Amino acid sequence: MNAKTNLAVQAEQKSKSRLPIVRRIVRFDYSDIDTPVFYSDNPVISALWVGLSATFPLGEAEFIKSVKNYEDQVTDPKLKEEVADFAAQEAHHSLQHKKMNKQFDELGFNTASIEDIMKEKLSERIEKWSDKKRLMRTVSAEHVTATFAHYALKQSHVLDDAPESLRNALLWHAIEEIEHKSVAFDVYQTCEGDMGKLKRHYAFFCFLEFPFQMALITRFLLKQHDTKVTWSHRWGMVKHLFGKSGMVSSVFSIYLMFLRRGFHPWQHDDSALIDEWKTKLSPIFPKRLINLILLISPFFNGLIFFETILCNQSTMTPSLSVVVFLAYRPPITLVQSALVKRISSSSVATTWAVRGTYSITQAFDQIRICIRLVTLV
Ligand SMILES: [Fe+2]
Ligand SMILES: [Fe+2]
Repeated sequence: MNAKTNLAVQAEQKSKSRLPIVRRIVRFDYSDIDTPVFYSDNPVISALWVGLSATFPLGEAEFIKSVKNYEDQVTDPKLKEEVADFAAQEAHHSLQHKKMNKQFDELGFNTASIEDIMKEKLSERIEKWSDKKRLMRTVSAEHVTATFAHYALKQSHVLDDAPESLRNALLWHAIEEIEHKSVAFDVYQTCEGDMGKLKRHYAFFCFLEFPFQMALITRFLLKQHDTKVTWSHRWGMVKHLFGKSGMVSSVFSIYLMFLRRGFHPWQHDDSALIDEWKTKLSPIFPKRLINLILLISPFFNGLIFFETILCNQSTMTPSLSVVVFLAYRPPITLVQSALVKRISSSSVATTWAVRGTYSITQAFDQIRICIRLVTLV
């Protein structure tokens, strides 16, 4: 595409996202995944879900990098902001799946080897592939993930047989995948705009490379432990993929939508589904009150700082002001530390804001105490 056409594309294309991309910090304890056959008493389906999780940490890191390569070319402020939010969401997914994979490895799966192989392949790809090809892969994978996400939320009964932590983590991940499903697409359309090539790349990835890769990974994981695989297990897997509520069959039309002329991810509008699930999962999402307390906490810290300065300049003797300070400061610090620990349930932006302000005021406190002690000597 020549420079002139590129400029025209940039002028026309903007973010078409329909949902806010919310940064949530969630915390799951995966200890309830306590057997290698944790899903529907079927080792093959269990290994498939382990395989999917094994590919996420490195896969999602690559999604972030491939989109960030284009950050400077994005001029739409909304899309720019969405790129940052997309990266924050994917980074947290990556962390949670790392944690989940550790649990799987405790049960005898060797997800670490899958990561090693992926790492090697990715570094080869980064050397050989253009930025455009890397972004095309991300756009394709994002549509596949968003389709899986729609499946998980729409056919959520299929997750009832999974351990609770896994179920909740997958549902949370699904919500966020749908929230940011058009970001990579919009960046590609804005900065590259070669939709024909993208569709060919998607068809290869979605219908050939990805299924083949997942079949190999599932087979590898099944070999990691001695669980006997029967024909009934294999048939269960076929039904899991192609049956009435199958992972492929029930959402096949959404996979195909990508190949339509003029396709955009939000032509399939699942915002109502997201609203429904945000309410259902609200107990595991950050609490608004906690966020508010955490936001206010540094301001109190600042007030205490100025109050102490005033005390020091009043009629109090230096030694008395240090005694007063030492008497009330530790309990307040304890309360603040407890609040900061609860930060795991706050947004990333709040985390940074609170931690930053908290550290600065703490540092000021330390310097001030040192000065007071020196002046007392
Ligand atoms: Fe993700
Ligand atoms: Fe994603």
